Amino acid sequence: MTRTLVLGGTTEASALARALAEAGVDAVFSYAGRTASPVGQPLPTRMGGFGGVAGFVAYLRSEGITQVVDATHPFAAQMSRNAIAGCAEAGVPLCAFERPAWQAGDGDNWTQVADMAAAVAALPKDPARVFLAIGKQNLDIFATQPQHHYLLRLVDAPKTDLPLPDCTVELARGPFDVAGDLALMQRHGTTHVVAKNAGGSGAAAKLIAARQLGLPVVMIARPQLPPRQVRGVLAEVMAWLSHPDV
Ligand SMILES: NC(=O)c1ccc[n+]([C@@H]2O[C@H](COP(=O)([O-])OP(=O)(O)OC[C@H]3O[C@@H](n4cnc5c(N)ncnc54)[C@H](OP(=O)(O)O)[C@@H]3O)[C@@H](O)[C@H]2O)c1
Repeated sequence: MTRTLVLGGTTEASALARALAEAGVDAVFSYAGRTASPVGQPLPTRMGGFGGVAGFVAYLRSEGITQVVDATHPFAAQMSRNAIAGCAEAGVPLCAFERPAWQAGDGDNWTQVADMAAAVAALPKDPARVFLAIGKQNLDIFATQPQHHYLLRLVDAPKTDLPLPDCTVELARGPFDVAGDLALMQRHGTTHVVAKNAGGSGAAAKLIAARQLGLPVVMIARPQLPPRQVRGVLAEVMAWLSHPDV
């Protein structure tokens, strides 16, 4: 008997949940609980942090989890590190469902940077209209460049004041399409895009829109993680679940 834990919060995780439910696999879906109304899943769903590595190991043991798929966002590095450490400690096989990083193509004007601080440094000195497509975390550091107007796209309305003096919030939940992102950027007079290299299709429209509008993109590289099993497409994750290895 197997029991799979899916660490979610991405379009890929939702696709995996559908596939597991259709296959009748015994599985639990886990959300961090960051958004007010997360997308419903066709699997039993738990919400909230586990309590670090120790809490994660205790959860694996108490729920009888036999295999874990980490389908969190590539920038959810803390959860991914905890999953690597916790699964190793508990002897539970772990596989990441990780989409390949985006690559710049013909017509793209990307500045690739290592982290948020480098993204801030890559913005121009003169006032610009920046589509800051990084979610709601890490906004503080952009307040060091207050001359820019920032456009934020968030799932939920912010509950507290934002640290950016000149910003506009658009409420929307992905996946997004090119026509919508073109209209968004034109409506806001966007001159620069800042993006995390999430990969996948759900958030790629802004990059195609930026290319079509000839806009520069500051692309933030993914955080580094310890080695782990990785599969890039759903069928490979399903195959791994049939024969998981550590
Ligand atoms: N970071 C992004 O850019 C981004 C973008 C889109 C979606 N998301 C999704 O949003 C969630 C939170 O992202 P984050 O960047 O805040 O993560 P993070 O910094 O890696 O995680 C911080 C803590 O949140 C808890 N956590 C994260 N994901 C969880 C999950 N799926 N189930 C249960 N607990 C979870 C864990 O708490 P404990 O230590 O208490 O276990 C973890 O240590 C993730 O599920 C991710 O897939 C993130």
